[in-house]
Amino acid sequence: MKVEVNGRFEDYRTVWMKDSIVHMIDQLQLPYKFTVHRSEDHRKTAAAIKNMVVRGAPAIGATSAYAMAQAACEFPGGDFLSFLRHMEAAKKLLEETRPTAHDLAYAADSMMRELKKAASVKEAKKQLTAAAAKYADDSAERCRMIGVSGAGLIKDGARILTHCNAGALGCVDYGTALSPIRYANDRGKKLFVYVDETRPRCQGSKLTAWELTQERIDYVVIADNAAGYFMKKGDVDLVIVGADRVTANGDVVNKIGTYEKAVLAKENGIPFYVAAPKSTIDARLRTGDAVEIEERSGDEVLYAWGEADGAIRKVRIAPEGAKARNPGFDITPARYVTKIITEEGAYSPREAVKAIR
Ligand code: MRU
Repeated sequence: MKVEVNGRFEDYRTVWMKDSIVHMIDQLQLPYKFTVHRSEDHRKTAAAIKNMVVRGAPAIGATSAYAMAQAACEFPGGDFLSFLRHMEAAKKLLEETRPTAHDLAYAADSMMRELKKAASVKEAKKQLTAAAAKYADDSAERCRMIGVSGAGLIKDGARILTHCNAGALGCVDYGTALSPIRYANDRGKKLFVYVDETRPRCQGSKLTAWELTQERIDYVVIADNAAGYFMKKGDVDLVIVGADRVTANGDVVNKIGTYEKAVLAKENGIPFYVAAPKSTIDARLRTGDAVEIEERSGDEVLYAWGEADGAIRKVRIAPEGAKARNPGFDITPARYVTKIITEEGAYSPREAVKAIR
């Protein structure tokens, strides 16, 4: 993605590894400050995923692949069996950071498969480092191709609603939901984007708005509650969101609030597209109800975070002692999804699942 740093555009990925150090654009600092967070070992990388320095399904997938490579290189020495045990522990640590997105476990599993091909610990360390870099490259390419697959669905002049951040920041690059938008914009189509997820984490107003600003794409931030108003007025032509997991029946698990947008879109006759790489599809789970939904701290509901006087500050927006519930994701039944846009094309939810079998 292009990022304007000190008046000059530079190319960045969301996450990369150099000399065994994982580098991540620090998403807790955006949109206030562009900084890169560095993590020297796999435990710190796992903590960065848990604390959401890096977030978004494909981004945490690639970050977990890099963390597995770090874990391999940290192994002090010993036989292959103890190396395997060390790597299983690293995988478990990573999988426990954020349970809902399939990409994270998918990436850690691919690293384990890679490791088992190696003839020695020394060879495994080298192979895993190369495999993690390839995983990230492939993940970026899958997202680029989502842009190609979905671009035809976006007409010149389209008014698009997107929820949360399914942009380059949520991926290694390009984005999922934002990839077709980027692609259409790059080819000169005039677009307008309604951006929401203004609670509980404000990933729309903080991250998607920041990305669209960088891309010079016209947008407005709307309160989550306003989506129905704009849809009913006829101001939204299509909705595109990302996904954290898609199950065998085509149900879509994505950031909390997605379900409401899908129901509203159907009520108003608006196409509802889900953009996701095939690695998001988890055909082992029959329906969305089988997905573990991450329950996050109630503080995200009871407090708001923003910049004041050059520092990020937390303010209470509920009475002292109020309790909160804070599910991070919800389940959109397949019947609300017009098409799933993957790196290979746009399919009905059932066809998309069939394509990975
Ligand atoms: O909790 P987050 O910010 O990791 O949630 C991210 C989302 O729900 C995105 O919509 C998702 O990962 C889509 S793919 C970038």
